[in-house]
Amino acid sequence: MRVPDIIMKKRDGGELSPEEIFFLIDGMVSGDVPDYQMSAFCMAVYFQGMTPAETAALTLAMARSGEIVDLSAIRGTKVDKHSTGGVGDTTTLVLAPMVAATGVPVAKMSGRGLGHTGGTLDKLESIPGMRVSLSEEEFIEQVNRIGIAIVGQTEDVAPADKILYALRDVTATVESIPLIAASIMSKKLATGADAIVLDVKTGTGAFMHDLSQAEALAGLMVDIGRMARRKMAAVISDMNQPLGHGVGNTLEVIEAVQTLAGEERGRLFDLCLELGARMVVMGGAESSIEAARVRLNDVVDSGAALEKLREMVVAQGGDPAYIDDPRRLPVAPYSEYITAPCSGYVASVDAMTLGRAAMSMGAGRARKEDSVDLECGLVTLVSIGDPVEQGQPVAKLYASSTSLLTEGLSVAAKAYTYSAEPIEPPPLVYRTIES
Ligand code: URA
Ligand code: CA
Repeated sequence: MRVPDIIMKKRDGGELSPEEIFFLIDGMVSGDVPDYQMSAFCMAVYFQGMTPAETAALTLAMARSGEIVDLSAIRGTKVDKHSTGGVGDTTTLVLAPMVAATGVPVAKMSGRGLGHTGGTLDKLESIPGMRVSLSEEEFIEQVNRIGIAIVGQTEDVAPADKILYALRDVTATVESIPLIAASIMSKKLATGADAIVLDVKTGTGAFMHDLSQAEALAGLMVDIGRMARRKMAAVISDMNQPLGHGVGNTLEVIEAVQTLAGEERGRLFDLCLELGARMVVMGGAESSIEAARVRLNDVVDSGAALEKLREMVVAQGGDPAYIDDPRRLPVAPYSEYITAPCSGYVASVDAMTLGRAAMSMGAGRARKEDSVDLECGLVTLVSIGDPVEQGQPVAKLYASSTSLLTEGLSVAAKAYTYSAEPIEPPPLVYRTIES
């Protein structure tokens, strides 16, 4: 087999065999196939697409490029959840303790923020003392003991994805449905869960801007998971506006704790019920989505879900005082409001723009090795469709300096537009795909 022939076959719209795909991915990981050939290959896939069989072969080749985590020592059906990436999207921190409180083990490996989107690990690290790197033995022991652990994915999981993702990021080949599906599912298959619930985002703040693309991506990932004998479900949810109010690491943790305490019942909580109910059913704790929803509401009302987060924080070295009173978490010292310039209805709270505003104040990374300012970000005070009066605050921004605050304000203000006529808010969930 010759690499140029494989690239040419894909460029001309042919279907690659599993052997050809494994040859390419093995060569890339061993260093025999250079970046320029992989870049050309990604661009060929971007334009020609891949068949489901090719995408499945690519996923398996990437999953097998490194360590396969064995969670069989954990009792019960291990359920995992993955979001394709959003803004103000702190579902994992809310959902994982809720599901674990129903008795379904949650053994979760999470990532860091990417582009304009936030990541669970960065959020967890805003709790003083919290450790997100556990050994595999510690991870398994903790899940068996308290039913929950959220840790960083080790370097050895799907190394092919790390190489390919870095290349795609700089060659304008991220937004390819088969490449995204293989990237996400290779990591999920390598990290050992028996059942996976996917939260596929669509809208301006998502990688997939329109619903039909999100549906295609969700369907493909569900099919790949089923081929690999995983129980699968997917929820296609809105990312035109941020999911929660907070955008930025500490601000999102505060909101997550308040949501688990039952103080917040907005879109974030509703989506956690939607995703969580599927995890609870797949994990075998309830037999219907309706019963699972009731159960999840109960574990929030009784305080069991918040207690589960507290137990996890303690187990991973974090200071539980910040869970008992999340307002103690330090936020950036300089703050200012954005106000509505006119009276009317909120027409947009653009998620991508708010994500970028938070990034511009230091909430995210431009490069993998950059450090993040955990304390900066913003809180949106309105949602699409809300009535507003002229001069009413619509967002509050937090930054570590006045110049960063000014920068953030100028970006974030553009996220908000208004209409004189009433506006219909977008739905939270567009569609679900069940196993
Ligand atoms: N998230 C991933 O892990 N990979 C992609 O390609 C896109 C989003
Ligand atoms: Ca316990």
